[in-house]
Amino acid sequence: MSTHYTIIGNWKMYFSYKQAMQWANQHLESLEELAQSTQNTIALCPSFESLEPLSSSFKNISIGLGAQDCSDHALGAYTGQVAAQSLAEIGCSHCIIGHSEKRQFGHEGNDQIAQKMIQLIKSGITPIVCIGESKEEFDQGKTLSVLEKQLAPIGKALQEQAQPATSLFIAYEPIWSIGTGITPENTYLEEIFTHIQKLTSSYPNQHSIRLLYGGSVTSQTSVTLKKVGLIEGFLIGKASTDFQELKKIVLLL
Ligand code: PGA
Repeated sequence: MSTHYTIIGNWKMYFSYKQAMQWANQHLESLEELAQSTQNTIALCPSFESLEPLSSSFKNISIGLGAQDCSDHALGAYTGQVAAQSLAEIGCSHCIIGHSEKRQFGHEGNDQIAQKMIQLIKSGITPIVCIGESKEEFDQGKTLSVLEKQLAPIGKALQEQAQPATSLFIAYEPIWSIGTGITPENTYLEEIFTHIQKLTSSYPNQHSIRLLYGGSVTSQTSVTLKKVGLIEGFLIGKASTDFQELKKIVLLL
């Protein structure tokens, strides 16, 4: 089991701007205490509009700040998009890309997600690349081939475009587990994570690749999930919006 976990809170669009500010104001001191009392790394990913003010709030505490998406382009004529460069300028340390909700509702493809990763690396932001199969693909036994397809452009982009050494998270999130309260069996996860590790082992070795699990992680499920040796952290949706629950997860790991 890992001795140091990374806990990423994906707030999705659960909070309005005012609600996110209220949450942060209410829990700022406790968050600082939590960050100080653990070896684990914590980063929170609110909606775009809350990033800059939260960056100021988190300035003096050891909590990372992440966006939930970025453009696959550098600055230019791309209406409605947000550049990785801007995210870096306002203090983001992390950025989620390829989340299944973006793949589904934003019709994102694997090549585009790989280009988002490149933009993030160029801007010095740690990418959190989400991958995972649907229920139908799971039922048809297609998980490994789906993950291979999702990861192929990631590996290719890292091989072809020389990049500075980076930290990169791959978050395996089976879509059928997100928000459902259902988590996979550990034996299943062992097999999947071993395969992901094998696929990523060919990436240029200056990069540090760490594997996260996401999907219905709570203070109850995390205790079982952490027994999967290759899991080095969690991408947490709903449970990360409840401070007491987040605290329990961090302290139990
Ligand atoms: P969940 O979401 O923890 O609410 O299942 C995880 C995610 O979508 O990243």
